[in-house]
Amino acid sequence: MMDKCQITDRASQANGEQRNLKNTTISHTTSQTDRRSFLHQSASLGAALALNALATPSAAQPNAKKIKVGVIGCGSVSTKYLPHLANCPFVELVSACDIIPERAQSAATKHQVPHHYPHIDQMLTGAPFDLFVDLTDMQAHERLNRQALEAGKHVWSEKPIADSVAAGQKLLELARKKGVRVWGAPTAVQSPQFAFMAKTLAAGSLGRLSAAQASYGWRGPDWAAFFYTKGGGSLPDLGVYNLTTLTGLLGPALAVVAMTSIVTPRRGIKDKGEIDVTAEDNAMVMMDHGNGVFSHVQCGFNYFTPHEHDRTDQGHHTITITGSGGTMTLAGYDWAPHAVDLATREQPKFKRHADAKHDYVWQNGASLVAECLVTGREPLFTPEHALHVVEIMTAARQSQETGRRIPLRSTFKWPVVS
Ligand SMILES: NC(=O)c1ccc[n+]([C@@H]2O[C@H](COP(=O)([O-])OP(=O)(O)OC[C@H]3O[C@@H](n4cnc5c(N)ncnc54)[C@H](O)[C@@H]3O)[C@@H](O)[C@H]2O)c1
Repeated sequence: MMDKCQITDRASQANGEQRNLKNTTISHTTSQTDRRSFLHQSASLGAALALNALATPSAAQPNAKKIKVGVIGCGSVSTKYLPHLANCPFVELVSACDIIPERAQSAATKHQVPHHYPHIDQMLTGAPFDLFVDLTDMQAHERLNRQALEAGKHVWSEKPIADSVAAGQKLLELARKKGVRVWGAPTAVQSPQFAFMAKTLAAGSLGRLSAAQASYGWRGPDWAAFFYTKGGGSLPDLGVYNLTTLTGLLGPALAVVAMTSIVTPRRGIKDKGEIDVTAEDNAMVMMDHGNGVFSHVQCGFNYFTPHEHDRTDQGHHTITITGSGGTMTLAGYDWAPHAVDLATREQPKFKRHADAKHDYVWQNGASLVAECLVTGREPLFTPEHALHVVEIMTAARQSQETGRRIPLRSTFKWPVVS
């Protein structure tokens, strides 16, 4: 199952391709990168130290070819992560943990995980492991990630890594102090379709860029209340993918204008009955990428789709980027992409690209960072990018509350493939 867990060939191929590209029409980013690059650079130092420690077999790390992994949160998403981790050649599954102990026990039995725990304290003091994989409720991530970092564990977190960009930066600082790494979902920038779109933009094939739009929604989960309460919402659960992809393609956002609403004020949740919805379930977010380029993301828990939540087979277009000389549009979701359709002045009939069978799956993040920790090679996703998206989401809510355009301060290394 090497194909599902390998980052290195795709990443270096994308990097190689990008190195030869010229004439990007997005010229604002040099100064942005300079202005904001300190975060990434300082992160890299601690990172390099930690990676070297793991990549070199030593007496302290006699089995440096595999990363020992502990998974916390054995609910819905763990049923996708655990098989992927179990098939990853760089991973040894050590422990499973859930505050609902029977979930931890059942996940451990099903995936031959030798240890299971009902609480993080027992997990962190129990069987030793290197990488903490956080698949818990969104509201628990920041606290659990901090506790794991304090215990000297590397962290892979489902989105969001933290509730605010300031808290997330403190986590990065803590990771640096401890000589460990922290990363967060999503991994959409790793897909071959993202690479094709980035390459097309960098080649200037769309002419002078102006606008992009993206959409992701469905009728919403019915298995957990946290999606609908403070700290949850459709932005951190759904919008986060498109926000990551569009900032990954067009560059860090400078400012946000947004409207959010609650369309369905009460929801039926399995095991809980009806609950009050207190986090937005409908959002429209506009981003200013500088140089006159705007993009727009809409997301929500009130969208009918023919494929419901298992939409890996859906092929309609979800992201479109337009310029004076061309337009390109992604078939499928950015977390389950199929192909990119491109039309330009020279080739005005849409032509399909990046439609070869590929092994990108959205649940690959923890396996990819385990590979990264073993080999020392970097993935394309970064914690700074994840935190920039956290800032966009908090700014979107602030914009709704105040009716104002909200300037952003954070950034990340861009272009993503360079
Ligand atoms: N379900 C999906 O298809 C999906 C897909 C992508 C990402 N995600 C993300 O994955 C995360 C989890 O979502 P889910 O759908 O699996 O939710 P879920 O409710 O099915 O699972 C979460 C699990 O975490 C456990 N948990 C909560 N707090 C804990 C704590 N302090 N210590 C130990 N265990 C704790 C819960 O008991 C539960 O079993 C969310 O961030 C969500 O946005 C989910």
